[in-house]
Amino acid sequence: MRGAWALLLLGFSAPSLASPSGCGVCHGEQRVEHAESIHAEADLGCVGCHGGDPTQFESKDAAHSVDRGFRDHLSRADIPEVCGTCHADVQRMRPFALRTDVLAVYRTSHHGEAVLEKGRLDAAICTDCHGTHDVLRTQDARSPAYRVNVPATCGACHGNGDLMAAHDLDTAPPTEFAESVHGRGLAEAVPGVPSCADCHDAHAASPPGADEVADVCGNCHVETRERFRESPHAAASQAGAMEQCITCHGNHAVNHADFDRFDTPSGDGDGDGDGTGARCLDCHDGDRGEDVARQFGAGFRQAQELLQAATRAIDAMAAEGFYADDERAALARAERELVRAVPLSHAVDVARIEGSLRRVRSLVDEALLGRAKRLREARDRRIFGSLAGGLLLGIAWFMALWRRKERGQ
Ligand code: HEC
Ligand code: HEC
Ligand code: HEC
Ligand code: HEC
Ligand code: HEC
Ligand code: HEC
Ligand code: HEC
Ligand code: HEC
Ligand code: HEC
Repeated sequence: MRGAWALLLLGFSAPSLASPSGCGVCHGEQRVEHAESIHAEADLGCVGCHGGDPTQFESKDAAHSVDRGFRDHLSRADIPEVCGTCHADVQRMRPFALRTDVLAVYRTSHHGEAVLEKGRLDAAICTDCHGTHDVLRTQDARSPAYRVNVPATCGACHGNGDLMAAHDLDTAPPTEFAESVHGRGLAEAVPGVPSCADCHDAHAASPPGADEVADVCGNCHVETRERFRESPHAAASQAGAMEQCITCHGNHAVNHADFDRFDTPSGDGDGDGDGTGARCLDCHDGDRGEDVARQFGAGFRQAQELLQAATRAIDAMAAEGFYADDERAALARAERELVRAVPLSHAVDVARIEGSLRRVRSLVDEALLGRAKRLREARDRRIFGSLAGGLLLGIAWFMALWRRKERGQ
């Protein structure tokens, strides 16, 4: 009997002799899940989290030895500390180059406060986001903490109506995010788009404070943040009169903005009732802000329309077989200038936007002048061609007449 157990044990523990585990003899399900995990890869056995005596596999009581640190039931409030025994230990984590602040940061999060201080055990703990016996590297596409899977992992709770209602939160973030330019980008593997954790920090999870928002968004939209800081709105947000980026873009429902946002009000009164942010005319009425907003709206739209019309004209010319590379290069420069003017508009500085839009118009003009010149030259060639052709015909006719006359005489 003893021999049979030993054989069994050898059968599955041979690959990880460094952490012989008799626990798996009785706990097959956990053994199988654990075998695939990053912890098994690092040769960590069951006792790393549970304690006990892994050399005992015949007697539950011997294996579950309290003297050997066995903790028979891990409550949700204990688990962060258990994970922290290694993940907050600089010495133990050094060989693996992993962060050691996860537990400390977690404690300061709304999740950590709820679980550890308020005894509200249904807020997130480590295992909700990483798994328990099947913890994987966060870079592993199967991990619930892998970027692309994060919205679903958070959404399992933040999309749960009963749970959110019990905590006075609503279920909007996951759906609004999924429909946003960021959420769609994440699902389509657009590089660099944020998941929930990029704005909230996975372990710090709490809403960014009002003055942190520009920094959160500005981590990626760097140029826009710099220009925003120069605007009258930066001062206004400092004074508490408005928020930062999310005032105009919303936080989760961020979407492609269009030039109409400058000079058409959103029409829903408070401006951000639909979560997509306020528009200029929601706040500015009969003041300098309104003038500037209307100027920007008209200026940007005009530049864009000119650029589109010119692009159609140059495309048509190229389709007739004309050389159009110079004109296309000028239009590409105009397009880049227009794209650059959008972040610039966040400074709400009329002179700079006028300068930019003037350059767009003059590059469009350059392309159209080039086109006019080519078409004129082509026409001249045609006229010259037919004139020259007519002349040659005339001479030939005259010569023939002359020859016939000579022969006739
Ligand atoms: C001889 C069989 C046997 C061995 C060996 C054994 N266990 Fe158990 N274990 C059991 C049984 C049976 C239960 C369920 C009954 C109970 O709750 O006590 C259990 C329950 C548990 C529980 C759940 C306790 C709870 O209340 O949620 C944990 C955790 C656990 N074992 C861990 C271990 C670890 C770690 C080892 C190795 C150090 C180990 N076991 C070795 C038989 C075993
Ligand atoms: C990374 C830490 C960790 C490791 C390693 C680990 N466990 Fe667990 N285990 C937990 C946690 C946390 C729970 C509590 C899960 C819960 O209640 O949701 C748990 C629960 C259990 C339970 C109770 C039943 C259950 O699934 O909830 C058993 C039995 C168990 N573990 C056995 C094992 C065995 C056997 C091994 C080794 C093959 C092992 N564990 C390795 C963290 C770990
Ligand atoms: C006994 C020490 C120990 C305990 C306890 C422990 N871990 Fe680990 N964990 C490690 C080590 C060591 C690694 C690094 C393995 C490697 O990179 O090869 C690791 C890796 C990880 C990773 C992968 C990080 C990455 O992306 O590379 C995650 C996630 C993780 N652990 C979560 C947990 C959770 C959650 C718990 C508690 C349920 C826990 N760990 C408990 C030692 C431990
Ligand atoms: C709300 C979900 C959530 C909770 C709770 C959570 N994590 Fe994480 N964790 C993540 C995500 C997402 C990542 C990867 C992205 C990142 O690092 O921001 C991550 C990354 C990690 C890493 C890899 C860090 C590195 O250096 O690459 C470790 C280790 C880890 N978590 C351990 C823990 C431990 C231990 C706890 C509990 C104290 C915990 N996590 C709680 C979601 C969570
Ligand atoms: C296991 C369920 C669960 C998971 C998974 C979870 N959360 Fe939470 N979260 C909660 C609960 C419950 C609260 C409310 C805590 C409280 O009462 O303070 C909360 C609070 C928050 C808050 C603070 C809200 C506020 O205004 O107080 C933020 C932000 C947050 N979570 C973000 C996240 C993110 C991001 C993720 C994924 C990386 C995530 N959560 C995963 C349950 C969860
Ligand atoms: C682009 C950045 C960004 C992303 C991505 C993001 N959030 Fe938020 N989130 C914010 C900001 C900013 C706030 C603060 C809003 C405020 O102060 O009014 C917030 C607030 C919250 C809150 C607080 C309650 C509320 O409704 O205001 C929760 C919960 C939350 N987010 C969860 C999530 C979840 C879950 C995801 C992923 C599905 C996510 N967030 C993705 C920026 C983001
Ligand atoms: C006062 C309102 C307002 C504020 C505050 C604001 N934006 Fe904008 N933002 C706009 C408008 C209006 C547009 C539309 C211009 C366009 O794209 O046609 C826009 C466009 C954008 C775009 C699209 C740019 C592109 O390339 O098409 C991004 C990205 C952006 N904003 C990010 C931010 C960030 C980050 C912040 C905070 C630092 C911020 N915005 C603050 C009004 C605002
Ligand atoms: C982790 C980097 C990152 C963070 C953080 C981030 N964004 Fe973005 N954002 C992107 C990327 C990348 C795109 C382009 C997505 C695409 O085109 O599919 C984008 C697109 C946008 C757009 C639409 C641009 C367009 O082409 O019309 C706006 C507006 C925007 N973000 C505003 C914000 C705001 C406001 C915040 C903060 C609440 C924020 N972003 C946070 C990376 C980020
Ligand atoms: C959420 C409300 C809000 C929105 C939306 C908003 N602003 Fe403002 N704006 C303010 C506040 C508050 C001030 C500072 C107080 C003041 O000067 O009126 C300000 C100041 C200004 C100023 C300086 C006014 C002066 O007298 O010099 C201009 C110009 C301006 N905004 C243009 C815009 C434009 C353009 C947009 C749209 C892209 C916009 N604002 C969107 C609230 C807003």
